[in-house]
Amino acid sequence: MAFPESFLQELADRNDIADVVGSYVRLTKRSGANLFGLCPFHSEKTPSFSVSPDKQIYHCFGCGKGGSVINFIMEIENLSFPDAVEFLARRCGMELPDEKEDEGRKKRERLLSLNRDAARFFHEKLKEPGGAVAREYIAKRGLSPTVVKNFGLGFAPESWYELTNAMKAKGYTDFELVNAGLANSNKSGKGVHDIFRSRLMFPIIDVRGNVLGFSGRILGDGEPKYLNTRETPVFNKSRNLFALNLAKKSKNGYILLAEGNIDVVSLHQSGFDSAVASLGTSLTPEQARLISRYANEVVIAYDNDAAGQKAAQRAIGILENLDLKVKVLRMSGAKDPDEFIKLKGADAFKNLLEQSENHVEYRLQSAMSKYNLSIDEEKVAALKDAVNIIASLPNAVEREVYSMRVAEKCSVSKDVVIGEVVRARKKKIYYTKMQQEKELLRSTNSSRAKNKAVSYENPRSALAEEGVIRLLYLDSGLFSGVEISPEDFSSPLLGRFFEILKEKTDAHLPLSMASLSANFSPEETDHLTGILQKPEVLSKGQQALGDYINIIKTEKQSAFAEDDLRAYAQMRNKKEKGYGGQNGC
Ligand code: CTP
Ligand code: MN
Repeated sequence: MAFPESFLQELADRNDIADVVGSYVRLTKRSGANLFGLCPFHSEKTPSFSVSPDKQIYHCFGCGKGGSVINFIMEIENLSFPDAVEFLARRCGMELPDEKEDEGRKKRERLLSLNRDAARFFHEKLKEPGGAVAREYIAKRGLSPTVVKNFGLGFAPESWYELTNAMKAKGYTDFELVNAGLANSNKSGKGVHDIFRSRLMFPIIDVRGNVLGFSGRILGDGEPKYLNTRETPVFNKSRNLFALNLAKKSKNGYILLAEGNIDVVSLHQSGFDSAVASLGTSLTPEQARLISRYANEVVIAYDNDAAGQKAAQRAIGILENLDLKVKVLRMSGAKDPDEFIKLKGADAFKNLLEQSENHVEYRLQSAMSKYNLSIDEEKVAALKDAVNIIASLPNAVEREVYSMRVAEKCSVSKDVVIGEVVRARKKKIYYTKMQQEKELLRSTNSSRAKNKAVSYENPRSALAEEGVIRLLYLDSGLFSGVEISPEDFSSPLLGRFFEILKEKTDAHLPLSMASLSANFSPEETDHLTGILQKPEVLSKGQQALGDYINIIKTEKQSAFAEDDLRAYAQMRNKKEKGYGGQNGC
């Protein structure tokens, strides 16, 4: 969606960067006009993350990330540009430009708002006298008030009509209640009744903070143990993950994938804040893709039963397809992470996490445990499976190490296993090579794209160009009488930025990174804000600007001169060889 610039400008005006950043990062005034804090985008002990209220930008001197208030929200909430704009619009109560036209979107928003109201209703019910049963259950499961609040847990009362009546009183229709999966039509054909009754309610919230649906656990034993919102226009359980809204903010760098909602809540309670669950289905490719947007490593912590282990095997394949690094946590003495933590404590779980096997060990172990190694035939089959797994490892040392381990386990000579691995590997090599070539191509393409934004052909000129841009951004008054055009810039990015700045100033529009960010890629924005955040003495702005422009022009002249020289040399060369001269002098 393209937003009008005036809209973006107003959005930025109404969302002061220091306020917005300040609600995520503790900012203190340290030097000059800038505020400083610990960078939320990389881990550090001394603050190198700066916010400039004057320039309305942030910039980290440590990791180089920077931009406007919109970029900040994109980065910290992991949102796309339009989603970040929507987030900020909501924060300051602005209406989105083309919202009115979009009927489907409006209906969706009604459902989301109904879900949100329902979540509030359930949460309130937990506090009322009638919620005692649920509070007792929560206490029995050892869930703290903090996680109850953070996860927005709730209680669906015994009644068939309490939710429905409360929501109708708020103006929602029977149709909307059914459409949201919160109610069913009565058999009589008249009216509707609540679907969730006497259950502990887990709202399922997406990365933008929308309540999409619910997962309701029975209080105690009974069937079904969990009742999930059926598929609705806003909820599809194979495309969402429970608690990703919280886990995406974790600094762990990996996602901890569990099976159960209770496991996830309990993990967060013990400080493992990157835990998510796949809503009762085994992990789907859509869910894996969602994960890959927020982390490049996944630690699987499924239940310790046959079903859990089988689901883990499937999940490994799906996650690996997306180039995610996969580890598997192996628990003993407890059926799931929740029980493990209750029995042995968070530190013991932390140890498990640290020892979690990479998926090779895990796969070998799992593959071989299917066989009885004291029977020769089964031993042969086990070796075959193991050899196949080992042969797929790209690293020769790893192949040797695991071959030895397998040989030992099956009491055969290591040379035999290594020999088999070599054979199996030869078969795979063609395929692997193709894969690698594809991979190489992809990675060089992406790094080339990245470098394009930041590498300078003429560093001396580019530094002066940076100065020009910085001065003009800070004081657009300096534009009058500026004798330079975008074509004079050696850096196409800086030239483009200059051109946009000039257009805005000519049109008497205010300059801000927020209204400009739509014009630049994230890498370009990081780079540009880095430039803007460098110090500049404005009191001598006019003189500095003149000096910068002189450098740019001199550099351009000498570049021309160099080109001329090169052309002349080429011509001479051709003449000497006697086949040039067509356009010679
Ligand atoms: N699940 C479901 N429907 C069921 C059973 C389970 O949707 N009838 C989903 C739920 O999302 C549940 C997950 O599968 O959280 C894992 O199931 P299970 O291990 O049985 O539940 P736990 O979350 O571990 O719950 P508890 O510890 O309370 O037994
Ligand atoms: Mn479980």
